[in-house]
Amino acid sequence: MISEKQRSAEAACEYVKDGMIVGLGTGSTAEFAVKKIGELVRNGLSIRGIPTSDATKILAESEGIPLIDFSETMFIDLTIDGADEIDANLNMIKGGGAALLREKIVASASREEIIIVSGSKLVQQLGAFPLPVEVIPFGWQVVFNQLESLQGNPELRLKQGQPSVTDQGNFIVDCHFRKIENPEQLEQHLNMIPGVVENGLFINLCTRMIMADGENIIIKNRNLN
Ligand code: 5RP
Repeated sequence: MISEKQRSAEAACEYVKDGMIVGLGTGSTAEFAVKKIGELVRNGLSIRGIPTSDATKILAESEGIPLIDFSETMFIDLTIDGADEIDANLNMIKGGGAALLREKIVASASREEIIIVSGSKLVQQLGAFPLPVEVIPFGWQVVFNQLESLQGNPELRLKQGQPSVTDQGNFIVDCHFRKIENPEQLEQHLNMIPGVVENGLFINLCTRMIMADGENIIIKNRNLN
């Protein structure tokens, strides 16, 4: 039996069409999409991909997906990526896999951003999952202090006892807000702190959520009034 992650990823791949520039997400759910796209490419589909992390780049290359970067295009037709939490407005927390910065740039350049999740990722209110904040290494302690003042209960992400370093050479501070009352406001507020490069709140970027819940596939489109 295939997992919910794989089923949501494969459902999303049905939106990938010949000639498209496709943003390739990061994480264990997005990995299924990259592998499926690789299979489609080997069967004749012609697309070009833009990966959201070094790990995804390596995987996409091993799958034989032709890759480009933003020196060749300003726009992406469709991106398929995962999320750590998503709410009913399709706002999200991302960055559990530390790729939030490239993921947000890719999402912001995408005409369509399909987010693939299993049922457990859908929440009533964002914030139970620690919100990743990407900070430059210089003066990270000052940023940390400010995140503490915001009741963010910050925690420097470590790997083998050392600060975990992102693809862009930055650190991640995970903030335990627990309940985020106003995600739009918090996203802007965090990004105004000097030293913060980006944070994992993705607001109004997801255009379509594809959620596999048990046997069901639930598709929700963003209301673009
Ligand atoms: C990486 C991400 C991932 O999309 C997110 O962490 C979900 O990962 P997974 O599919 O492994 O649960 O934002 O930065």
